[in-house]
Amino acid sequence: MDKRELIRAAIDNLPNSYAPYSHFHVSAALLCGDGTVYTGVNIENASYTPTICAERSAFIRAVNDGKRDFEAIAICGGKDGVITDFCPPCGVCRQVMSEFCGPQFRVIVAKSEEEYIDLPLKEVLPLSFGPGDLLGKK
Ligand code: THU
Repeated sequence: MDKRELIRAAIDNLPNSYAPYSHFHVSAALLCGDGTVYTGVNIENASYTPTICAERSAFIRAVNDGKRDFEAIAICGGKDGVITDFCPPCGVCRQVMSEFCGPQFRVIVAKSEEEYIDLPLKEVLPLSFGPGDLLGKK
C-alpha cells in the first residue's frame, strides 16, 4: 500500500468520528507490517476526559487483533469534519506510537492525497521515553 492509499483510507473514515462536543473530527489509518490497515476515529464523551483520539483508536483496534508491527499512520481532521489544515498528533498519541513503533515509523499528516507531511517518528517525538528506558538502555 502506498502513502496515497493510506491517506485515502483515513479521509474515507472521517465521517465515523464521534465529536459532538468539540466538533473537531479526526481520523487515522494505521498500516501494519503485514499490509493490513486499521482505521480509528476520535470518540468523545459527555464527561470529556474519557475522550480518545483517532490515532489511539486505531492502535487499540490493531493491538487487540494481535498486531505488533507497524509501518505508518496517516492522520487527517478538521472542524465539522472539513479538512482545511494539517492535524498533527497530540503528545499522548505520539507516546503511544513510541510504545509500539521504531524510530523509522512514518507519521503522515495529510490535508489530501497530494498535500501531506511525512516524518519519521524519531523526528515527531525526539528524546522519547520508551520500553528500552525501563531496561536501562535504548
Ligand atoms: N484529537 C485526535 O483525535 N487526535 C489528536 O492527535 C488531536 C486531538 C481529537 C480529540 C478531541 O476529540 C478533538 O480532537 C479535539 O481535541
